[in-house]
Amino acid sequence: MEDARPILLLDTGVGGLSILGPIRKLLPQAPIVFALDQAGFPYGQRTESELSARVPALLGRLAEHVDARLAVIACNTASVIALDPVRAALAIPIVGTVPAIKPAAAISKSRVIGVLGTAGTVRQPYVDNLSRDFAADCTVIRFGTHDLVELAENKLRGRVAPIEAYRAVLDALFSQDKGDEIDTIVLACTHFPLVEEELAEAAGRPISFVHGGDGIARRVAHLTADQKWPADPVPGRAIFISDGSDPELLRPGLEQYGLHSFETL
Ligand code: DGL
Repeated sequence: MEDARPILLLDTGVGGLSILGPIRKLLPQAPIVFALDQAGFPYGQRTESELSARVPALLGRLAEHVDARLAVIACNTASVIALDPVRAALAIPIVGTVPAIKPAAAISKSRVIGVLGTAGTVRQPYVDNLSRDFAADCTVIRFGTHDLVELAENKLRGRVAPIEAYRAVLDALFSQDKGDEIDTIVLACTHFPLVEEELAEAAGRPISFVHGGDGIARRVAHLTADQKWPADPVPGRAIFISDGSDPELLRPGLEQYGLHSFETL
């Protein structure tokens, strides 16, 4: 028997595509629903209590609406703040996206790691704990930025920004104490891998960028290993929790990720 239930991904915008890409590669038969909480954007500037209330309620509603088999919180900010309340509220398996500090510590030679995330993510004790548990012998330098979120949103709408905009963000890391020794940067917001090429160019020296996409795809594959998928690929579905902006501006960008059907809630 086929099982048509989709994998549901939630982010505030296009960031979740950096998680969707690896999932589609690993599980090409999996039906996908990609939810964009544009009305809640940006999570990185919301309070802990706002997100702890909003994310479980919204994800619960969406999971029921689409009959999801599994949900991925394709957002670092929502995951580090609201993973526990989401798991408590929903009966399906939940995969979170947390800063990839462990893989970064595994490859850094200089033992100085940068973490770029939203302001909401980089201030979390969750990040202190990851640093203590997996990067105790590294200096971990953090910077919270909303600018990269906007740059990624604009890029997916076909709007190109000058490389200086990316350089300004990196300078905020490199100018901190020991920042000139950073050889590895954790992209701890799902929007940021979408502008990795621009960051690499702006860095002006070799930097390894690390994020969680591939690991999350493997986790989803593991959790669904004994499940069935539809025999023929199903077109991906984008659901906009709308802020009133025109979803059509995103159509070319989202279609590249197999999202062909658009719906507004
Ligand atoms: N993509 C989200 C994350 O991974 C943040 C974007 C936002 O601030 O809404 O943290």
